[in-house]
Amino acid sequence: MTGKSLSDAIVFIGPMASGKSSIGRQVAEQLSIPFIDTDEQIIAEHGPITEIFATQGEAVFRRLEEMAVTKALSQPGRRVVSLGGGAILSEKTRAALKNHTVILLMTDEETVLSRANLDKRPLLKNDPQAWSRLLQQRLPLYTEVATKTFEVAWLPKDVSAKKIVLWLETEVYA
Ligand code: S3P
Repeated sequence: MTGKSLSDAIVFIGPMASGKSSIGRQVAEQLSIPFIDTDEQIIAEHGPITEIFATQGEAVFRRLEEMAVTKALSQPGRRVVSLGGGAILSEKTRAALKNHTVILLMTDEETVLSRANLDKRPLLKNDPQAWSRLLQQRLPLYTEVATKTFEVAWLPKDVSAKKIVLWLETEVYA
């Protein structure tokens, strides 16, 4: 029992294409609680992420991301929130995460490059090896805010989701 209250969000963080959205959605379904994907919210309000990067640049995307994350983390009630891989670059976001249960999904470059849709990810599109470089740079930030890390490389997503639900039920909300 970690003392988390039922209003805390369960937040998925981790490197690009580690399964945050699909595993997060399955966890929310299994717990019958709402699911929020902050990248999807940015897309719904501002258009495709590739276009935001291309026309306005990464800095503008990061500001939109920080606003979407702040909003998702400040809503009341139990819910699952999935963040984009670079959301933890924001100090404000890292501070806000301290009030929530934060799940870090770790995977490896081989798994990601064999499964992920790189066209949707502007930072990988023309440079797939950037995945490992970014992970190395961001790893200290991921571990700083993570409550718990799950290794998900090569595991079917539903298996990872079940393991996470079991952990939440036995360790967090017991
Ligand atoms: C990014 C990750 C992406 C998306 C954007 C930038 C990053 O989300 O937010 O392309 O900087 O790691 P995913 O982690 O879902 O790929």
